[in-house]
Amino acid sequence: MSLPKLKLVSLEFASTWNDAQADLCVVIADEGDFSEGRVSSPALAKLDADVGLVISELASLKDFEGKWLQAAATLSPSKTLAKRVLCLGAGKKTDRSPARARQIGVRIGEEVAKMGAGKVSKVVVNGSSRLFTDVDLAAQMAVGVRMGTYKYPSLNPSDDAKKDLETPAVVTFAHASASDAFRKANILSESIDACRLLQDGPPNIVTPKYVAENMSERAKAAGLKVEVFGAQKLRQMGFNAMMAVGGGSANEPQLVVVEYVPEKYTKTIAFVGKGLTMDTGGYSLKPAASMVGMKYDMSGSAITLSSVLAIAELKLPVRVIAIGALAENMIDAHAYRVGDILKTLSGKTIEVLNTDAEGRIVLADALHYAAKTYAPDYMFEYSTLTGAMVISLGHVAAGVFPFHHDGIGALVQKASDATGEGVWLLPTFEEYGDDVKGTLADLNNIQNTAGSAGSATAAQFLKEFVDGKPFAHIDIAGVADANQAIGYPRKMSSGYGIQLSVEIARLVADEK
Ligand code: BES
Ligand code: ZN
Ligand code: ZN
Repeated sequence: MSLPKLKLVSLEFASTWNDAQADLCVVIADEGDFSEGRVSSPALAKLDADVGLVISELASLKDFEGKWLQAAATLSPSKTLAKRVLCLGAGKKTDRSPARARQIGVRIGEEVAKMGAGKVSKVVVNGSSRLFTDVDLAAQMAVGVRMGTYKYPSLNPSDDAKKDLETPAVVTFAHASASDAFRKANILSESIDACRLLQDGPPNIVTPKYVAENMSERAKAAGLKVEVFGAQKLRQMGFNAMMAVGGGSANEPQLVVVEYVPEKYTKTIAFVGKGLTMDTGGYSLKPAASMVGMKYDMSGSAITLSSVLAIAELKLPVRVIAIGALAENMIDAHAYRVGDILKTLSGKTIEVLNTDAEGRIVLADALHYAAKTYAPDYMFEYSTLTGAMVISLGHVAAGVFPFHHDGIGALVQKASDATGEGVWLLPTFEEYGDDVKGTLADLNNIQNTAGSAGSATAAQFLKEFVDGKPFAHIDIAGVADANQAIGYPRKMSSGYGIQLSVEIARLVADEK
């Protein structure tokens, strides 16, 4: 049950690009590096000399002026450093965010993929822009390169994709002092690729069991503790809510728990992810068009389970529990119904008024289990929870609802600023909670007032199951796939959340 192999490009780092003998060299320049059709910055002039003065030639023709995402490609006359030169514009100096750096990287990756990994097998990247010279930004650019070359391996063996896999391109960043940042970029990229492969896999392959087995394999190989609870065990343990949601599927629910315990730590984090490998809506059936893309409803689990591997490889001094709550929301004689009252693991009861609001039901048990079993200092939960989130923030940022702790919202925001994985803090007024209070049961699984604040009321529902622990609910419904935020692939999965989780873990590890 291994993931398909995916190594379209490998990232390497060298202190200089002299004698690179590459098929392609990429130069990242700012608008400010030019004036009146000439190269004006000494840093760019030096790179220009290295590539046989083609940059100043392109500048004099006004083919390249460093404008944002402007691209100009040419042959290199010197043929010593590289056969081709690609100039990429980083724009004005005013916008210097990690997301912008990543966007340039994605662009490089897409170019390399377009040229063909077989044809362009050796690429070097250098630049005068601070998006490149700043170590952290360059590392973000490197992550973008991997994102840009990603593609889901073809299921047709005669396809070109197979050839690409056999000849991965090597992309070398020529950067003076950056080996650590790039080591981290490679680790993050591995984790992002693994996350995306799980996200993009079709739901007839990526079932709860597939995710569980794949994760066990990867976690064990990394020396981490992993537990998988199948249907029988979950029923025995009292995961009635999760079992109800998965009841209509031949692919039984699975709870995957990966634990990373470093030698030294003071804090424990629990990351919990929604893992619906397919969400048809159940008897509250989704309309046909809304069902498309619901294989991505397991993205929360893909994030939590993939990011813990990166956190472990980076050896961050914080204990991390990553949980994937996996099930499939389908219809058959055993499927749960509208009107059912479920007794959750916590003892609280839920009246099901819409079987399509299944994520919160699965999470009710998973969150309670995490809170009670591990007594974490912080809990973060990722879910493609509500369509209302897409209405509020589109595909640009995730919504964050902080509970039971004054600083947890700021912590997520700080991680977002550092990584360029966009978030927006949203309100947690108690009144939203009143709207999910039940009459026959403790809670209703949809809000009582139709059409009002669907994401905020869902958040209130979840916070009932975390046993008062500091908790941030992160609704990724809009960003898990087809992301429109800066620096993300526009097609298929996004891998959003891996960097956010790793940075959250780093920030918590830094707390005394
Ligand atoms: N998985 C969906 C939410 C979703 C919608 C994710 C669109 C990504 C894109 C979730 O299970 C769902 O169906 N939620 C319902 C809740 C409603 C019935 C209260 C929704 O948002 O319509
Ligand atoms: Zn649903
Ligand atoms: Zn769902």
